[in-house]
Amino acid sequence: MAEENKKEKAKKPSLAKVLTIFSIKGGVGKTIISTNLALALSMKKNRVIIFDMNFHSGDVSSTLNLNPKLSISDLVDNIDFYSPKDMEKVLTPFNDNLKVLAAPIEPELASSIKPELIRQTVDILKEIADYVVIDCPSYFHDTVLTALSETDRFYLIATVDLLALKGALITLQTLQLLDYPEDKIRFVLNRSKSKVGLTDQEIERSLGIKIWTEIPSDRSVPMSINTGSPLLIYFPKSPAARSFFRMATAVKNDLDKRERKKEQAA
Ligand SMILES: Nc1ncnc2c1ncn2[C@@H]1O[C@H](COP(=O)(O)OP(=O)(O)O)[C@@H](O)[C@H]1O
Ligand SMILES: [Mg+2]
Repeated sequence: MAEENKKEKAKKPSLAKVLTIFSIKGGVGKTIISTNLALALSMKKNRVIIFDMNFHSGDVSSTLNLNPKLSISDLVDNIDFYSPKDMEKVLTPFNDNLKVLAAPIEPELASSIKPELIRQTVDILKEIADYVVIDCPSYFHDTVLTALSETDRFYLIATVDLLALKGALITLQTLQLLDYPEDKIRFVLNRSKSKVGLTDQEIERSLGIKIWTEIPSDRSVPMSINTGSPLLIYFPKSPAARSFFRMATAVKNDLDKRERKKEQAA
């Protein structure tokens, strides 16, 4: 009997982990972190899909130098009939392991994207990837809340700047009001080591959350965007690239730990 149970478990396809990248401030590095974390995970032989949820002005494709022909708006009205195989056709490949579900090519189509479409889309993406990385817009919309309910880890991004940190505090308070599970939240400090008069301890004390990981301010980041050369491929030894590789390992270990805890509890 135990043997049969084991076989049953082995047959079940494992679903992707959903990693959501969020802040209510724009310009803090959500897209930089989404794309580089996704690329770092894909370089460790994982199948990764980035879902660009900035429906009005998605930046994921241009950050990765892609020119998508299809996008989430091609799923509107069709999703009920979509299989995982059909979904593959809507994705824009960066390489075999990293693909993008692009934001609408015509931004006016953004309003036709409803929360139910997000839920169905994420459910299918989970069947064809190991990780789904969601690059969120800078607001809590119904579509974002739906993505949150599908999320395994919520990465809250802020830079070392009072306004960004205020945004992080408001986000944490909103999540608390929404009864969002605290154990899913990880705080990521971007552009750290910028000497602007705030220490890590002061930041942690004012937000009431520990810094889970830090990405340093690094001029290789804008250089990689401006020259269309992905950071982890062209500047792999840069301080920011090293942090993204470390973050990818930490993401995996963090989620594996959760799996082990679940198994022990079962
Ligand atoms: N760690 C970093 N070091 C240097 N520049 C950065 C870093 N992170 C982000 N940036 C710069 O900030 C800009 C905004 O980042 P982006 O990811 O587009 O923010 P968001 O998606 O939150 O609006 C980028 O164009 C990039 O040049
Ligand atoms: Mg962005």
